[in-house]
Amino acid sequence: MPKRARITDVSPRDGLQNEPLRADGSAIPTADKARLINALTSTGVDEVEITSFVSPKWIPQLGDARELCEMLRGSRPKNVSFSALVPNEKGMRSLLEVYETPGERLIDKVSVFTAASETFSKKNTNASIAETLERFKPVIELAQERGLKVRGYVSCVIECPFEGIIMPEAVADVSKKLLELGADEIDLGDTIGAGCTETMAAMLACVTSQVDPDKIVLHLHDTFGRASECVRAALALGVTSFDGSAAGLGGCPYASTETKRAPGNIATDTLVRVIQAQGFETNVDLDKLAKASSIAQGLTQAVPS
Ligand code: HMG
Ligand code: MG
Repeated sequence: MPKRARITDVSPRDGLQNEPLRADGSAIPTADKARLINALTSTGVDEVEITSFVSPKWIPQLGDARELCEMLRGSRPKNVSFSALVPNEKGMRSLLEVYETPGERLIDKVSVFTAASETFSKKNTNASIAETLERFKPVIELAQERGLKVRGYVSCVIECPFEGIIMPEAVADVSKKLLELGADEIDLGDTIGAGCTETMAAMLACVTSQVDPDKIVLHLHDTFGRASECVRAALALGVTSFDGSAAGLGGCPYASTETKRAPGNIATDTLVRVIQAQGFETNVDLDKLAKASSIAQGLTQAVPS
């Protein structure tokens, strides 16, 4: 029987956080974000990362997280999870004010995020790796109290735009620390799409020797067109959960240097096709995904740089 792969579409978060604001300083309208999320929930993806509860000074594009949640009330189908990024207790408390109403839980997973690179951690969260882990303690405690699942992102698992090559042991180390804090899964981010078959396999072999592959998710940016080969390397090592982004949107504004950028994530339809070609099943309907991807594409064109 074919094994099943799990797909999270991160375009409303990783995609839209990287879209330029309009000349008047406004971001993509909240109603358009809700339209994309509603289209994604009908595609068969298992999870949609809908937004971030981060500082609006750092990511103004997602400063409407609370309004978006209000707008999405009543629209999450039971077979799709909604998750959101949370960097600290302040973000968590803000999320907890809107994540559910009587009779409906909108968000069922929170995603904390750190890195295997000290410099990227500082640039992205103004904190060392150890400080980010300290910040996650109250976030994870609150999540566990409320029965919310926790994803722990580790960025720069292959290369850092500032420090260069990252050793697999550093990735395994921070992954284990996140699990010890109570994360339910570890999402390994190739933030600048530096991986290839060999480096991805080496990193995953190291991490899966210490972390159950069932707890690992892979988050691939596709800078050099090598994300598909990384998916194949991961499937061969027993990793079956992946992030993709409708229309291949995505990128972290704090991962860019003059020569290295974090452009789009692997497009969710490419991801699904690669997974299927390797003999794994997903629930995704590619025709419905094409419609959602065209909405995502349209949103980016609506905001000229
Ligand atoms: P900081 O400036 O050190 O925070 O930022 P602070 O605690 O000193 O607070 C400064 C101000 O921000 C204060 O407001 C706080 O209230 C406010 P003021 O008094 O000046 O008016 N503040 C907040 N407001 C709303 N929500 C919050 C919050 N926290 C503080 N949660 C902080 C530290 C972590 C907040 C900041 O660095 C931040 O928000 N960073 C987020 C950056 C980000 O979202 N990056 C992209 C996501 S990660 C990514 O894309 C990688 C990934 O895709 C995986 C991969 O590809 O590798 C996940
Ligand atoms: Mg990313």
